[in-house]
Amino acid sequence: MTAAFATPRCLTNGRVRLQPITELDNRAWRRVAQHFRDPEIAFLNGTPPNRLPLWLLRRVLRADARRRDRVTYGILDEQDDYIGTIELYDVRTDRATLGIIIGERSHWSRGYGPEAIEALLDEAFEALGLQVVQLHTFADNPRAHAAFHKVGFREVRRATVAGGRTDVLMTLPRHVWLERLRRREQRVLQPARPDSR
Ligand SMILES: CC(C)(COP(=O)(O)OP(=O)(O)OC[C@H]1O[C@@H](n2cnc3c(N)ncnc32)[C@H](O)[C@@H]1OP(=O)(O)O)[C@@H](O)C(=O)NCCC(=O)NCCS
Repeated sequence: MTAAFATPRCLTNGRVRLQPITELDNRAWRRVAQHFRDPEIAFLNGTPPNRLPLWLLRRVLRADARRRDRVTYGILDEQDDYIGTIELYDVRTDRATLGIIIGERSHWSRGYGPEAIEALLDEAFEALGLQVVQLHTFADNPRAHAAFHKVGFREVRRATVAGGRTDVLMTLPRHVWLERLRRREQRVLQPARPDSR
């Protein structure tokens, strides 16, 4: 059984805004197509580069977005420019799998990924009440591994997959996420005291 999102809504965190993919404008859709065509991004993602024309890709992704076990967002930066895509797929009553592509190289290693992931995790654990969010990445993608580790994901299993690459399964249980939130709130409420000497 799935725990589908009723109607996806915009989510914000820090500099990023997650916009349901069905609401992206034409400019953003052209970037989506470029990201999906990019051979390096396809390799990092473990998929073949997309060869579909834009109109068909849009139709496919929009149809996917209507599935009750999936929710897909465009990631917009502080200039409201589309920089990538993030989704939860295979959403069940207690768990879902997270996928993310920041397609703009200019935005890599600048914290946009973790901000987008946190926005979606908040929705996953709060709105959907999931018990665990998992993801798959490759051992030869240290940037992704570092970003996922930063938001609380931990490695649980490695497996050699087709092509000889190593798939890494990472999970983030609900209680770990809630504890991280509690600590963050505590830091906000009790800022470091100035030196009293
Ligand atoms: C993976 C991804 C979501 C991470 O988002 P991000 O915004 O780039 O993440 P961060 O800003 O946290 O940067 C990643 C961290 O990895 C570090 N890093 C980058 N390259 C690294 C490398 N080769 N080895 C080790 N660490 C590396 C960065 O320094 C940064 O750590 P820091 O903040 O402590 O300095 C994003 O880069 C992306 O989408 N890349 C292309 C597609 C992809 O790989 N998707 C994931 C498929 S599973």
